[in-house]
Amino acid sequence: MRVLLTGGAGYIGTHTIVEMYAAGHDVVVVDNFSNSSPAVMERVFEITGKKTPVYAADVANEAEMDRIFTEQKIDAVVHFAGLKAVGESVRMPLAYYANNIDSTLSLLHAMEKAGVKKLIFSSSATVYGTPERCPISEDSPTGHCSNPYGWTKYMIEQILTDYAKANPDFQVILLRYFNPVGAHESGKIGESPNGIPNNLMPYITQVAVGKLKELSVYGNDYPTPDGTGVRDYIHVVDLARGHVAALNYKKPGVEVFNLGTGKGYSVLEMVKAFSRVNGVAVPYRIAPRRPGDIAECYASPDKAAAKLGWRATHDLDDMVRDAWRFQSQNPRGYEE
Ligand code: NAD
Ligand code: UFG
Repeated sequence: MRVLLTGGAGYIGTHTIVEMYAAGHDVVVVDNFSNSSPAVMERVFEITGKKTPVYAADVANEAEMDRIFTEQKIDAVVHFAGLKAVGESVRMPLAYYANNIDSTLSLLHAMEKAGVKKLIFSSSATVYGTPERCPISEDSPTGHCSNPYGWTKYMIEQILTDYAKANPDFQVILLRYFNPVGAHESGKIGESPNGIPNNLMPYITQVAVGKLKELSVYGNDYPTPDGTGVRDYIHVVDLARGHVAALNYKKPGVEVFNLGTGKGYSVLEMVKAFSRVNGVAVPYRIAPRRPGDIAECYASPDKAAAKLGWRATHDLDDMVRDAWRFQSQNPRGYEE
């Protein structure tokens, strides 16, 4: 299939390009580079040997999207494009609602005109809010999101569900990611956030490489085995392969899948695994809880295993090793 990846120059998008090619698919990218660098496409070329057509455009610009669908014969779309920083979304809610929702509506209009009937959407475990129990299955309640970013995911899931209901030959797959970490094993692509990282793993790697002084562990008084927050970390290459599996899944209508491993690790377990595997110290201090955080969150990955034939294959040691390889080979990210 020939697949359009919106936001394809981002962290998850670039890893998905690699896995799409490996599975024999063809790829087109549209990205406005608001949170990525055009330089990353050269790295993708070094890994794949393929020149991916890249459109530097905003997905919310419907005329640009029409042009892409006219110039390229597209069979399916994976919609990664979106703003994703939780804290920023609290400070700038309109920017988040406008970017994430407008781009989805513009994409759907353009797909409708072009007759493209398959969409895979990057949703998030954040739609489960504070889960009643773990592991979280796909039929767990959603809503009660703690920030505007999470609400955009919740609302887009609803928009796509309504659209699919009105168009029975349209297929929507909602992929709820848990916590993607790690990098391609080549060390050429990985997570390269702008500014100070919000997320745990890039914070750890930047402390390890000496860019940041120490990690703040947000709370050690949660009702978890060591008191620190527990999450379901998933290697980004496994996550990328989940999209390939979703592409091969053919049932019309809306289907939701968790993409996680089913295992939860605490913040301190992550720090210790990182130091043990990489032989690098990660100084840390215990800090107050971060507002909006939950104690624990991990997936039931069984539905994806049963229906998509997909399961994560990388373990914690792979995740911390590959995250460090990318950071140590690229101490300044994609900046030369
Ligand atoms: P990322 O920021 O690295 O990638 C997103 C890409 O989309 C960037 O390259 C950015 O420039 C682009 N973009 C944003 N708005 C755009 C627009 N209007 N038009 C064109 N391009 C636009 O983020 P990522 O980690 O690769 O995440 C990809 C998707 O997965 C996002 O939708 C994110 O919300 C979702 N997600 C990510 C995580 C995570 O922890 N990384 C977890 C759950 C869900
Ligand atoms: N943490 C720290 N110190 C840090 C950063 C994080 O102790 O500097 C802790 C957090 O308190 C939490 C854990 O590490 O217990 C993971 O935090 P992240 O920020 O890496 O991830 P979250 O689970 O909070 O959020 C992520 C994405 C969201 C997404 C959510 C659910 O950032 O976009 O997973 O999918 F919505």
